Amino acid sequence: MNATVAPLRIGPIDVWPPLVLAPMSGVTNRTMRALYKPFGLGLTVTEFVSSNALKFGSKRTMEMIDQHGVEKPVSTQLWGDDPETMALAAKVVRECGADIVDINFGCPAPKVTRTNGGSACLRDPDRCEAIMRAVVAAVDCPVTMKMRLGWNEEQMVYVDVARRAQAVGVQALTLHARTAKQFYKGSADWEHIGRLKRAVDIPVIGNGDLDDAETAMQRMRETGVDAIMLGRATLGNPWLISQIRDLMEGRPAAPSPSAADRLRYAIVHYRAMVEEWGEARAVPQMRKHVALYLKSVPGAAQLRERLMRLEREQEAIALIEETIVRLESPLAA
Ligand SMILES: Cc1cc2nc3c(=O)[nH]c(=O)nc-3n(C[C@H](O)[C@H](O)[C@H](O)COP(=O)(O)O)c2cc1C
Repeated sequence: MNATVAPLRIGPIDVWPPLVLAPMSGVTNRTMRALYKPFGLGLTVTEFVSSNALKFGSKRTMEMIDQHGVEKPVSTQLWGDDPETMALAAKVVRECGADIVDINFGCPAPKVTRTNGGSACLRDPDRCEAIMRAVVAAVDCPVTMKMRLGWNEEQMVYVDVARRAQAVGVQALTLHARTAKQFYKGSADWEHIGRLKRAVDIPVIGNGDLDDAETAMQRMRETGVDAIMLGRATLGNPWLISQIRDLMEGRPAAPSPSAADRLRYAIVHYRAMVEEWGEARAVPQMRKHVALYLKSVPGAAQLRERLMRLEREQEAIALIEETIVRLESPLAA
């Protein structure tokens, strides 16, 4: 293998390839992480988990930190604004198998920032520091942190918070290069990611808007980051992960699969979700995934509309199978 990049080192953990699946609430549960890992991920991250909720340990909360094992190493992400509660939560997730504990200073959702969690912490770098210090002291595994640039354009505190992170023993940082106030508007500004890389010695993972393999590699080269993190663009398209892995391992990127092959995989994904979560929970979640697998299939809009109305696994799979037959019929050509 003529690797074009180096492994990401997070404390004692070697991450190869340096390609991380972004934590996505409501998406990156254990099934999803296990399904996507073999496409070529070096590291997967759980959905964010409330440190407060972990005090009560409800079934739903514990499911969020659960692992298959095949997707290891797994980083478990926590959010909260209280150093002591975050430290206790870190102990719990470590005991439940987290290889890495990740702290969320990035979530811009009002239900999180209302209680000063997620990106709202960035309004108070001293609090960020206290949280990171407490979490690092609580566990015997690496602690990482994921953040945005700052709360808004006037308060871009990422370099300050990153230096504090490094000083208290955080072992890697992810930057989603938008402010919290931006939510998902505009585009991620990779200039800031390059600036962060130059400002600290611990590994930096760049994140935001990567949606094709060549550009992802270019961003890595330009900024010098140690790894990249992919989120939305992998949904309905896990082959993007393999294409980036190919380039990282020094091979040309494999071509994208045909629309029919994408849909065959959508069925695998569907069945795995139903098997683990039951039909009632899996079907609503799979609507958004299948809609994305259908992207660029002729007639996708009508198919999506039909799909949104289906309540049963069998009906949805029949619709996907029917579409595969249509795509592969000589008449389709
Ligand atoms: C549905 C969804 C849920 C997300 N949940 C989380 C989360 O739980 N924790 C987190 O740090 N970021 C979360 N994010 C942000 C992503 O991890 C990532 O930073 C962001 O989507 C930018 O990367 P992308 O452009 O590759 O998608 C979420 C994003 C989406 C789209």
